[in-house]
Amino acid sequence: MLLQDLSLEAMRAVGLRRHLPLNDREALLDLELPAPALRPHDLLIGVEAIGVNPVDTKLRAGQAPADPRVHEPPLVLGFDCCGVVEAMGPLAAANGSWRIGARVFAAGDVTRQGCNAELVAMDHRLCGRAPASLDAAAAAALPLTGLTAWEGLFERLGLTPEPNPDQQGQTLLIIGGAGGVGSLMIQLARRAGLRVITTATRPESRAWCLELGADAVIDHSEPLAPQLAALDRHAGATPQIPWIANLADTDAYWDQMAELVAPQGAILAIVGNRAPLDQTQLKAKSARLCWEFMFTRARYATRDMDQQGRILDGLSALIDAGELKPTARTNLGPISAANLRMAHAQLEAGHTIGKIVLSGWS
Ligand SMILES: NC(=O)c1ccc[n+]([C@@H]2O[C@H](COP(=O)([O-])OP(=O)(O)OC[C@H]3O[C@@H](n4cnc5c(N)ncnc54)[C@H](OP(=O)(O)O)[C@@H]3O)[C@@H](O)[C@H]2O)c1
Repeated sequence: MLLQDLSLEAMRAVGLRRHLPLNDREALLDLELPAPALRPHDLLIGVEAIGVNPVDTKLRAGQAPADPRVHEPPLVLGFDCCGVVEAMGPLAAANGSWRIGARVFAAGDVTRQGCNAELVAMDHRLCGRAPASLDAAAAAALPLTGLTAWEGLFERLGLTPEPNPDQQGQTLLIIGGAGGVGSLMIQLARRAGLRVITTATRPESRAWCLELGADAVIDHSEPLAPQLAALDRHAGATPQIPWIANLADTDAYWDQMAELVAPQGAILAIVGNRAPLDQTQLKAKSARLCWEFMFTRARYATRDMDQQGRILDGLSALIDAGELKPTARTNLGPISAANLRMAHAQLEAGHTIGKIVLSGWS
């Protein structure tokens, strides 16, 4: 496709208009919008399938501030997609590693228009080659959660993707294991040689965590310390966990995590806190709090933003080698406002297992 033709092209998209109440799922509308303008580093991706994430529901509900510089109405959400390269900006083309027709997957940039559209423009440094062994729907489930899990474990907590003597058999506690991020974090952590204890409240979410390789599952609706102590038969003593990844609610588990984290251990948080966090106990233990936000690299155009492309290529290779199981569990059908409203409702209920995806255009 010629770049000059794009500006003439209209595309289908699901978007929000600002004058509609943002806390209303009915605000998601089927729209016809101009094709996105390409920046020099961009790939233009013809979207075949999308993954739906809590960031979409939070942005729609106005709980997560969008960047006002770029989110002119109508706002198109969607930060997980698989699709085909249809055109390239000059620097993406000059890079030499992309070709028209290549199938890619990516999460993109939360400060730009998203992928709930027939066409999305994404910086090529944030894109990976989609797994050859998966269809577009299964591939679209992976980028955002895969990047979060990978960056959280191997960049923020400082673990290594392959087993090493310092982490082999050591415990990682994952709070909220059955959701999108947890479904990949369990697998990556087990592959790295860790003993993974995760949390889930329901028989089906427990079963999913065990199927993905968790060594044990405890219930996050009950106090965690006695359940962890019972697993290791530590009567009375508070277990000390070297690594804790909280994928659910930083405030709600803060006191428990501060009590449970081992001296010189680390807590990973991916959900912003609502109130100040008391770090007193962490100081006494020389323990660390690490934040992971998978849009940091895109948002600040960090010098290493191409690391996200490498992580995605690595995840793709692990999927194709059968070392990671795909995490898409629910395909709600073609990409449309009606189906996205359904996806948002399911995510907002808080009990998603694996990932929700939509694929194709009706
Ligand atoms: N910082 C980042 O870069 C980043 C990236 C991705 C996601 N996030 C955020 O991380 C959170 C998780 O994302 P996700 O995609 O994994 O979500 P998700 O798929 O919607 O997670 C659903 C799972 O969360 C569990 N859960 C619900 N309430 C919980 C609680 N109070 N404590 C522990 N677990 C609970 C549920 O387990 P049961 O049904 O068994 O209770 C369910 O299986 C979201 O808030 C999301 O916005 C941040």
